[in-house]
Amino acid sequence: MTVAVGIDKLGFYTPGLYLDMTDLAHARGAEPNKYLIGIGQSKQAVIPPTQDVVTMAANAAEQILTPATKAEISMVLFGTESGIDNSKATAVYLAHLLGLPSNTRAVEIKQACYGATAGLQLAADFVRARPTAKVLVIGADIARYGLRSAGEVTQGGGAVAMLVTANPRILALDAISSYHTADVMDFWRPTYRTEALVDGKYSTNVYLDFFQQVWDDYQAQTHRTIADFSAFVFHLPFTKMGRKGLRQILPTATSAQQATLTAAFEASQADNREVGNLYTGSLYLSLLSLLRHGNLQGGERLGLFSYGSGAEGEFFSGTVQPTFQQGFDEDFLANQLADRQAVSVAEYEEIYRAQLPNDSRDVQLAVGQETAPYYLAGRQHEQRQYRQQ
Ligand code: HMG
Repeated sequence: MTVAVGIDKLGFYTPGLYLDMTDLAHARGAEPNKYLIGIGQSKQAVIPPTQDVVTMAANAAEQILTPATKAEISMVLFGTESGIDNSKATAVYLAHLLGLPSNTRAVEIKQACYGATAGLQLAADFVRARPTAKVLVIGADIARYGLRSAGEVTQGGGAVAMLVTANPRILALDAISSYHTADVMDFWRPTYRTEALVDGKYSTNVYLDFFQQVWDDYQAQTHRTIADFSAFVFHLPFTKMGRKGLRQILPTATSAQQATLTAAFEASQADNREVGNLYTGSLYLSLLSLLRHGNLQGGERLGLFSYGSGAEGEFFSGTVQPTFQQGFDEDFLANQLADRQAVSVAEYEEIYRAQLPNDSRDVQLAVGQETAPYYLAGRQHEQRQYRQQ
């Protein structure tokens, strides 16, 4: 008998500041409903200079790891497109901060928003071959576009941490999945730029086209249909994007299935609507949102669509485990979002410009406001100074 492998635990961290999308709409001369309904975002996370992808990943991972579990981790796969170094992997910094064993394999994976899915699938294959292994998979990013650009309303940031094991508490992954790659210039960030370049409307069309291709291929491979699923979970660069994806396949469902899938979608977008795009972590925040706010039962099958510009798409699936509520800390997650402080548009713009300068100068950051367990204190001798409190 093959052993079930998948997501055993899920943690999520986003900093304690947010920008209200109604305030941003007023400042940009836009109709608020364009942002709230047309884009489908209510708030977006604002990332202070004292948080980067390494500290956010450590803050997410710490929620799901006990000292005993840390000692058992044999691999860290860190998906990000907001890397802090062209050579050294964020996973190595993370393994050190978390105090993981030195016989841990630690690497970074990049393919736009798809990196964490590559990590999850590689981790699952690793555990299928070594059922006692535990792998830490991270998706952490800061979604940054230009001030006053069309993409500004789709910013956000944070980190998701997943523990991948045999006999998982949350989701057992099916071994079959469908993936698709093509060289497409819809969104990219050359190494000399701190903000992405994007052909926005084109990127939304490529997303929908990739979704259709991998969904069709998945159905052909498995002979499953829409009737086999209780929910579809999407990469959500903004929540309207997933809504469009779901609408594309809903006409093939009965009206009762349409109602179930639409209600599940509402649950799966609730937290993303408050945080914005997380790039690599976005699909997995949506999964967490569905687990928290949905009406799931053990044994139900979920479909997941991962998309990374440039471009790579994958449709895969898994079965919800009866123990799924043991796999995340509901009180922590609810308080984390409820306790955030709003910033004004002027404060957001100041924070946007206050990132570590893109040169070799020493910097000491103002860390007085930081309450997170892990944070960035500055840079000395061209080395980031990480701190734990
Ligand atoms: P835009 O040009 O500002 O918006 O850009 P729009 O004019 O297309 O309007 C958006 C929607 O609002 C439209 O609805 C309007 O009708 C509606 P739709 O036709 O799409 O259904 N609207 C209103 N609704 C209600 N009341 C109103 C109102 N006014 C207008 N008063 C765009 C939007 C998404 C293109 C822009 O924000 C952007 O470029 N974002 C960044 C790119 C992006 O997120 N692309 C998503 C697919 S690519 C992807 O997912 C990968 C990514 O995550 C990166 C990675 O892989 O690393 C981005």
